[in-house]
Amino acid sequence: MARDGAVYVCQTCGATQSKWAGQCPACSAWNSLVEEVQSRPPGALAPSKSARGRGLDFRGLAEATPAPPRIITGVDEFDRVCGGGVVPGSAILLGGDPGVGKSTLLLQVMAFAARRGVRCAYISGEEAVDQVRSRAQRMGLADAPVALAAETSLREILDGLKRDKFDLVVIDSIQTMWSDVHEAGPGTVTQVRAAATELTRLAKKQGVAVILVGHVTKEGTIAGPRVIEHIVDAVLAFEGERGYPFRILRGAKNRFGATDEIGVFEMGDAGLAEVKNPSALFLDTSGERAAGAAVFAGIEGSRPVLVEFQALVAPSAYGTPRRAVVGWDSGRLAMVLAVLETRCGLGLGNRDVYLNVAGGLRISEPAADLAAAAALASSALDVALPQDCVVFGELSLAGDVRPVSRMESRLKEAAKLGFNRALAPAGTDGGPLKAIGVARLADAIRRIGESDWT
Ligand code: TYD
Ligand code: MG
Repeated sequence: MARDGAVYVCQTCGATQSKWAGQCPACSAWNSLVEEVQSRPPGALAPSKSARGRGLDFRGLAEATPAPPRIITGVDEFDRVCGGGVVPGSAILLGGDPGVGKSTLLLQVMAFAARRGVRCAYISGEEAVDQVRSRAQRMGLADAPVALAAETSLREILDGLKRDKFDLVVIDSIQTMWSDVHEAGPGTVTQVRAAATELTRLAKKQGVAVILVGHVTKEGTIAGPRVIEHIVDAVLAFEGERGYPFRILRGAKNRFGATDEIGVFEMGDAGLAEVKNPSALFLDTSGERAAGAAVFAGIEGSRPVLVEFQALVAPSAYGTPRRAVVGWDSGRLAMVLAVLETRCGLGLGNRDVYLNVAGGLRISEPAADLAAAAALASSALDVALPQDCVVFGELSLAGDVRPVSRMESRLKEAAKLGFNRALAPAGTDGGPLKAIGVARLADAIRRIGESDWT
């Protein structure tokens, strides 16, 4: 039986249930219900019979709104993903797998900002002050005037931040924060939500920008903090494949800027280095391009990025052929395979298919369809694409190659990196490159098969 005031809260979706169940009725997650004692959050409206509101102060849409001022941290990749710096009084959630480098990134951001005269505090609930300090020394940031503290009590943090004034505060991590108003344990939905609400309120009230670190669970949702995504002003995801040094900072939600921006970093011995020209990083320009490789001219956020699609089509040793894809959507791969089979007669149904986006980048643009198809066909036919050719174009189920957005920027970037040709939708003006226009996927496959690049 539940105790008085106790409810069961799903740690995945935040739904509350009165009874425990093995599976959450709301989101179907297993073993996610945890007993929590509900109490009114401090400052929440108390029920009142007599109190009346003052009415709303309605305003027009056309009134002038000054652009929000920005705190420029000096880490350009970070500033750009935030929409041109951090907005004072805003709350940002930085999510990512444990060990991906969130603490490293934010320590660097704090140090750079502090050197520019921004008043910065770094509050760690996971590491002791000495640990943070020695990491900063290793990264060559020891001279930066960042205020360090190790604390997990929300009450102490709120009091401390009221007493000492800062412009930018990092809370690492939100899962370790704990409020004595609530009985639930640290890391539960109740605690995480309470901490995020209080810290966001403090941010708004005092005009200090707060960056909350949130660890992500295996399912890809920010553990518990899923439920705080709506509380904060911006959600950033820090991603990286194990074994690769590259880290991508991606905007997932931003009330003050675009959400499709990415920042690229490289993890080294001295912390994270900004990568100003990601194309050169994701492309292996040494040696001949093998059969099965196609260079995709993509756009990430506002920047063009060239990245190599690698495909391997192999005889299947089992009854059910394998389909493995890294860095791209498996549903999209299934679609491209179906189009190759039905519209181009290139049946790969009984063969193993592996598709990999080099460098650990994740591509979600439909414009990559043609590059994936070209890589697959190149491997299946065992014919390499020309070394100096980039590929882009969206595929329809009918097998047509459709134009994509921002073709000019894609071509310009390719030209900058020494490419001369582009396998592109028919009618593309190649600009600096020679455009090899294809209206249908079958045309592209024929050209690859016959090495016809005129
Ligand atoms: P960290 O920032 O602690 O990850 P998170 O806060 O997201 O859990 O990063 C830890 C990893 O980064 C660890 O595996 C070591 C690596 N690292 C470097 O490679 N170079 C460095 O300079 C630092 C500080 C960390
Ligand atoms: Mg950390």
